[in-house]
Amino acid sequence: MYEQVSHSLLNAILDDLKPEIRRQNLRHFYTRLGANFYAIYSLFFTLYGHREDFKEQMLRLVETMAEGYINRSSELEGIDIQREQDHNWFLSQNWVGMALYTNGFAESLDDLADKTPYFQELGINMVHIMPILMCPAGKSDGGYAISNFRQIDDRIGDLKDLHRVAEEFRKRDILLVLDIVLNHTSDEHEWAQKAMSGDPRYQDYYFMFDNREVPDMFEQNMPEIFHESDPGNFTWNEETQKWVMTVFHNYQWDLNYSNPTVLIEMLDIILFWANQGVDVLRLDAVAFLWKKIGSASQNERNAHLILQLMKDCCQVTAPGVLFIAEAIVAPVEIIKYFGEDAIIAKECEIAYNATLMALLWDGIATKNTKLLYQGIKNLPDKLERATWLNYVRCHDDIGFGFDDNDVRASGYEPFAHRKFLVDYFSGQFNASPARGMVFMFNNETGDARICGSLASLAGLESALENDDQTLISASINKILLLHSIIMSFGGIPLLYSGDALGVTNDYSYQDNPSKSDDSRWINRPTIDWERAELRKKQGTVEYTLFNGLKKMIAIRKETSAFADFNNRELLDISNEHLICFVRFNPLRPADRVMVIANFDAKPQYLDLESLNGKGINFYNHVVDLYTGSSPTQHDRQIILQPYQFYWLTEI
Ligand code: GLC
Ligand code: GLC
Repeated sequence: MYEQVSHSLLNAILDDLKPEIRRQNLRHFYTRLGANFYAIYSLFFTLYGHREDFKEQMLRLVETMAEGYINRSSELEGIDIQREQDHNWFLSQNWVGMALYTNGFAESLDDLADKTPYFQELGINMVHIMPILMCPAGKSDGGYAISNFRQIDDRIGDLKDLHRVAEEFRKRDILLVLDIVLNHTSDEHEWAQKAMSGDPRYQDYYFMFDNREVPDMFEQNMPEIFHESDPGNFTWNEETQKWVMTVFHNYQWDLNYSNPTVLIEMLDIILFWANQGVDVLRLDAVAFLWKKIGSASQNERNAHLILQLMKDCCQVTAPGVLFIAEAIVAPVEIIKYFGEDAIIAKECEIAYNATLMALLWDGIATKNTKLLYQGIKNLPDKLERATWLNYVRCHDDIGFGFDDNDVRASGYEPFAHRKFLVDYFSGQFNASPARGMVFMFNNETGDARICGSLASLAGLESALENDDQTLISASINKILLLHSIIMSFGGIPLLYSGDALGVTNDYSYQDNPSKSDDSRWINRPTIDWERAELRKKQGTVEYTLFNGLKKMIAIRKETSAFADFNNRELLDISNEHLICFVRFNPLRPADRVMVIANFDAKPQYLDLESLNGKGINFYNHVVDLYTGSSPTQHDRQIILQPYQFYWLTEI
């Protein structure tokens, strides 16, 4: 778009660029800058146009992008150009992810590089390595309290090791995903230290107040994230005698994005990691980026503008790099993190599908799919060129953040239903095989979340303890069932380290003072590689799970209907224990797969007449892609065993 004001500003900026930048050959950079400049300018103006130093800041922003581009290797630039040409590359069914902690999965980054064959063995080709940067020695929120955004924690390695990981991954076509923790720094970060020593420039990087007046106003509408361990959203800082905003833990200081310098610093960090060969950046806690008195300070419009700006700027410098939005918020809010428009107001290409995750666990607890149906139906349509990250478990807690209207429409009272779920997964509900822990119980609101490993929540831990073969196989089937949905739903499935091996809760955190008040550590286990060898021994839990998932992954990669082009149709059926949807290849509509899954502990039937001819044609020869055999049919009904799923197709 040609817009005079922004273009004359662009010309002025190009004249003012540092000579080191001007001297470079920046052909691709200038083309992209010209194409994106109006959007960048408009966003930056909306956020910071009222400031006297607006033009100076704008110049700094352009210089940051240019410097990032100059530091980009020709190899990475080649990848950028390739991905620009094939811009839907990440929507393909080919991608399957795994998230892990370096020191849980391996000894160090170097050792992780040595363990890449494991990913290949399972079929994983996108690996999210959770925070690896310098953080406090004791409590560090699992590395999400960062003390230096450019330096790797020497307990696990250094930049050279990471380059080795990136290289190993690239050789094997595995995408590397790293976190960018945008919302806060640790109180040991240099900026926080300078702020503590009284430097006003750095105090302006954070939210600091002399008295409770403003904090109290904020508190009226801000929920608490870690209510039990870290109540309130502000922490008293002795050194400065000020209140600092700390939404998460008291040692995590929230960054102040109303200061453009903060935004530019963080963009610089994004580009730094993009230039280390990272393919995808997971932007942590993006819902929290903008704080406003009188609001919950989550999902604010300006938080979206910041993300759009970061996307546009990253597209100028490193267009091949994707963003994942980690926004664990209400369904109608999550969807907004893709942006408003795929081209002119893009935010993140990928977002965590926290809604589906919570709905799946609801299905497990209730053994029916009423809420699962309701929730999926009301999941707003997402943008083109955007995709979900579908997961069952991750390193965090599970919040039952479904829409209350959906809960009511499914026949439940929201408060009582959430209480049931918490009781069910913490094993307090009679007859529940789950072994989870209540997380951050709030006495006033009754809110609580759940921690626990996938295997333990699915009943494997209690079944193994009781040596109950029926329950062991039921829990294995539940784990496979849950994965059969995330693999076929549309989006990138993200497995969690340990889940393919049935790793149960890790209680050792309880003896570690820097972890004991955070039960999320129960689901951040260390992989026992000797035990993992059992995946090769027929008849073991490890073997059944690992090989089941491996097979699903291989089939997914060959099934074009599983790519994500908004090509899913949910089918209404007459059995409330089953879920049924059809996936089709929009280019070849005859390529269809019908997914049916039974969430009940008893066999269930799908009445083919109730499909009203929708889905696939059962008069043809129908085969289950997973088992290779035809489904058991009787009297125009398909039978599903407890926790069985089908991926049916006509051949
Ligand atoms: C994200 C992380 C979580 C962390 C929080 C604060 O939600 O996944 O582990 O506690 O951000 O950084
Ligand atoms: C996340 C979520 C919250 C979660 C926490 C970390 O950003 O908002 O639900 O519990 O941070 O666990």
